[in-house]
Amino acid sequence: MSDKKLEVLFVGSEPELHQRCEGLCREFEYSFATCKSADDFADNYESFGIISVIVLSAASVSREADVAGLVQVVKQFAADSFILVVADKKLKPESAVFIKKSGANLVMLENEVLHTCKLEFVTSQKIKSSMIPMKVSELVKDTTPDFTIYHMMPLNRKFLPVFHAGQPLTEAKLKKVATVGEVYLKREEISKYKVYINTYQDKSAAGLNSRCRAQFLELSSAFIDLILLIIDQSEHASYDTGKVLLERCSLLASDLLMSLGSVGDAWSIINNSAVGEFGSVERAPAVAAYSGLYSLMGSIGNQDDAMLAALLSDIGLLELNPRSFQKLRHNQDLHAEDILSYEKHPVFSLNLLLSRKLPLTEIVKNIILHTHERSDGKGFPNKARGEKVPMESFLVAFSELVDRGSLISWGKLRVDPNEVRKQVFNHEYEKQDRFGAIFLEKIKKVLQESGGL
Ligand SMILES: [Fe+2]
Repeated sequence: MSDKKLEVLFVGSEPELHQRCEGLCREFEYSFATCKSADDFADNYESFGIISVIVLSAASVSREADVAGLVQVVKQFAADSFILVVADKKLKPESAVFIKKSGANLVMLENEVLHTCKLEFVTSQKIKSSMIPMKVSELVKDTTPDFTIYHMMPLNRKFLPVFHAGQPLTEAKLKKVATVGEVYLKREEISKYKVYINTYQDKSAAGLNSRCRAQFLELSSAFIDLILLIIDQSEHASYDTGKVLLERCSLLASDLLMSLGSVGDAWSIINNSAVGEFGSVERAPAVAAYSGLYSLMGSIGNQDDAMLAALLSDIGLLELNPRSFQKLRHNQDLHAEDILSYEKHPVFSLNLLLSRKLPLTEIVKNIILHTHERSDGKGFPNKARGEKVPMESFLVAFSELVDRGSLISWGKLRVDPNEVRKQVFNHEYEKQDRFGAIFLEKIKKVLQESGGL
């Protein structure tokens, strides 16, 4: 196996799908290569090195057994890669389940790959957010972490283990880990990391921050799992799994809020936590953290409802076409028809959630639906007037403005959170057209008390 690393490999011969993958990789600056078929891949797999995501086109293969055969060939030579199968748009959900069992990690329908930006979300998660940064100072001498710790090779951005799970962390080992500087762990091991942090971090401010950050990362991870489940065609009927994941998100959100309440500041927790490059959907846990904390501090609406709505309100953006998505990402103006679908995204969010039969209360659904409504009645999708907009909807929208203001570009945070909060608040307080007066007074009190004004 060569020492190279490839981010996306397209296996297939459909020009439209090829173009779609190539365009996406150009946009995100992912390395990209193509193989004409699964057999072609079997002959040449050695030349690619480690591949993060393989997009395997089976759009023109109608028999599920044949698709499963292709997956098995690819899997045989790329056991560690994430294999995304693009299936015929008429594929039945049972067939998608069968294909997944043959070794695929995710199954999507061709029309969804071509006309929505779900592919952007999946690749961004798999390429940019599979490794989570952690702090060397969180490791305690003479303990036995049950997760592996990695560092990133500066030249080829490859992750290599510096510490293997299950070994005693002696002084010498700890020194070795400390010399590499930035260290990471795999997203799948977040829960183990959280238990470790809970066990060994003390009651000091630094310890509380570490525990809170681990909780935030675990919530983000559960949330990503929920979104991937919603995207995956083979999980179309996994209503119980969806319900469990949603409950897990709610539970982790309440846990996080308890710690956030003690820390008193969400920014220091969200800062330096991996996010990926997709944009608003993956910022949702950060927006949920702000919403929960402001709700708690200012008695604004119900904190649990606000956090859950903040998590879920933007998943409808996944339904936007790749062109609109690209424009949003670059802060460019949308075409008229793109504006129409953008303004429906809160409805799309609800539809996606309902299609998976996720058990949401009417209150949370209503909050989600109103996150872009305004007090002057000029919001969307229903132009609801201020008094009809739930406090929690205003809270989610305000938190999103704060979070967005804190980003220099997607995934990178600016350094003066107080300044951002002040700017966002003063701007809205002057205009009084987006948020209701009651909400603005409540949030003003929160910001004054927390030193943000
Ligand atoms: Fe939104």
